[in-house]
Amino acid sequence: MKKTYPICIAFCSLLLLGSVTAQKNKAQQIPSLKEVFKSDFLIGAALNWPQITGKDRAAAVLIPQQFNTVTPEDVMKAERLHPVWGTYDFSKGDQLIAYAKRHKLQVNGHTLVWHSQLPPFVHRIQNIDSFRTFFTDHIKTVAEHFSGKVQSWDVVNEALNEDGTLRKSIFLTKLGDQYIVDAFKLAAAAAPNTALYYNDYNNEQPAKRAGCIRVIQELKKAGARIDGVGIQGHWHLGKVPFKAIEESIEQYAAQGVKVAITELDINVLPTKVTGAEVGQHFKGDAASNPYVNGLPDSIRQQLAADYATLFRIFLKHKDKIARVTFWGVHDAQSWLNDWPIPGRRNYPLLFDRQGKPKSAFYAVIDAKLKK
Ligand code: XIL
Repeated sequence: MKKTYPICIAFCSLLLLGSVTAQKNKAQQIPSLKEVFKSDFLIGAALNWPQITGKDRAAAVLIPQQFNTVTPEDVMKAERLHPVWGTYDFSKGDQLIAYAKRHKLQVNGHTLVWHSQLPPFVHRIQNIDSFRTFFTDHIKTVAEHFSGKVQSWDVVNEALNEDGTLRKSIFLTKLGDQYIVDAFKLAAAAAPNTALYYNDYNNEQPAKRAGCIRVIQELKKAGARIDGVGIQGHWHLGKVPFKAIEESIEQYAAQGVKVAITELDINVLPTKVTGAEVGQHFKGDAASNPYVNGLPDSIRQQLAADYATLFRIFLKHKDKIARVTFWGVHDAQSWLNDWPIPGRRNYPLLFDRQGKPKSAFYAVIDAKLKK
């Protein structure tokens, strides 16, 4: 009886090793995005908690194989890092840093100043001086903590309205328009070697783009450092604004900053929403969730075509683009399954629910290899 244990353990280990190796070999047969685009720009993905901790097995294979930069999907947002006034919890953020180090991935910090996912105490601050203390301490403490560990920060996220004016966020209301300059100066002082970005959705659209250019110019006029603009890139199937995207890359670069595509995904489901305001929520019905049993071929092909056109534009302007990051690793965990309508089946990324490459993946690879 005693002797059967070691034999059984050895046999099981062999089986397990065999299956891990088989999985790896299978994964190795597909091209690697980070390799294919290595002379062009970094290729990234946003990681959620199961991915940071290795529990998402499909992602555990794909992340080191496909990407060279990552963005925390949620763990570096204020509600996570700073849940209670003056009390910081860096444990999950540090785990992401450790994961990135193990797999030689760069990290983009996301995000220091944003009106969404703020801890509840922030909304209760009445006194302006206290609000300023929160604002200053948060940026200083977080940027210092991760200084040298993240390569870039989305310093300010989504500060603009669609018409290019400043959003009436809690920051604007309490601190006035000066807050963006203050945020960038505080971040630069706390993280001198970190690239500093302004990040937004729809900022490829002309009016919002003009507002974004005003922000860059104001920052420069005030002597603040800004290194880049992030275009989030939450776009919709068949409606990707290619012309506006190309013009934006050119116009932002003409301001002397880099461009990053920071949160790329292409929503294939019907939607009334044109931006990515995370506070918007709607109820769904059967018509709003049409692909529960799989994606029709025509949609699959359109997705591949949209991604191919996008990457051809990115390649044409590779000298201006620092990074292209997808908002997620594979379709099963995309935030678009639950936003703005919960419980839908969406297909916005390059890898399917099993972590297998889709036609869109090969279309992106071909955009580079078959010119
Ligand atoms: C999303 C995350 O993906 C979700 O997990 C979270 O519940 C809400 O926020 N723009 C941003 C990101 O800058 O931080 C948002 O991420 C998506 C829109």
